[in-house]
Amino acid sequence: MKKNLAVFISGRGSNFQSLLDYQKQWENCSYEIVLCVSDNPNAPGLVHAQDNDIPVEVIPKMSNKTEWETKILECLERYNIGMIALAGFMSIIPHGVVERYKGWCVNIHPSLLPKYPGLNTHRRVIENKEKEHGLSIHFVDAGIDTGPVIFQVIVPVNGIDEVILSQVILIYENWFYPLVVNEVALGNLSLRPDGVYNRQTLLERPISISVQGENNETK
Ligand code: GRF
Repeated sequence: MKKNLAVFISGRGSNFQSLLDYQKQWENCSYEIVLCVSDNPNAPGLVHAQDNDIPVEVIPKMSNKTEWETKILECLERYNIGMIALAGFMSIIPHGVVERYKGWCVNIHPSLLPKYPGLNTHRRVIENKEKEHGLSIHFVDAGIDTGPVIFQVIVPVNGIDEVILSQVILIYENWFYPLVVNEVALGNLSLRPDGVYNRQTLLERPISISVQGENNETK
């Protein structure tokens, strides 16, 4: 049975689109996007929901946290949501939602976590003259970009500028997010009390792919 997936967005929605494309292109996809949740009524990415007849629920952040949490939980219940994929959702998910979907809520973040949680990762990586950057896909916990990491793509920085670096990483985000969400939905990648499992194997470190880059420094 496919997992009913809710995708949470706030902005552009390229990862939302890639999740949609994957499900359209592969009939054995183990998730089905049945809902898009946004905290921003003007999120450009909402167009992908319209184009694909996916229901949208706009639930802007509220000063009363409990009320906001209840609204989200009721909404997820109504659509019988089994799994959440955060895709550029800029608000911190309420605690009750994190608890209810523990092990079934994932996020994608443009850095090699635990390094560079939060915003402006590409700029900070370049300013700090890091040699490597990348992306992480992780289970969501109560912190900001702190949950157990499942998968990473490691990209060499090699003196490329912030714009290009962010574009390169976004391409890998869009490629790999659907694959990992699919494996989590299948139960092949899972969160257990002692860590992240790939089927029956406890991962000692995140699954990672290293992208080879031209090394400009040696030219
Ligand atoms: C991505 O870089 C994602 O890793 C981060 O927010 C950005 C969202 O991009 N969490 P998009 O809206 O999916 O295009």
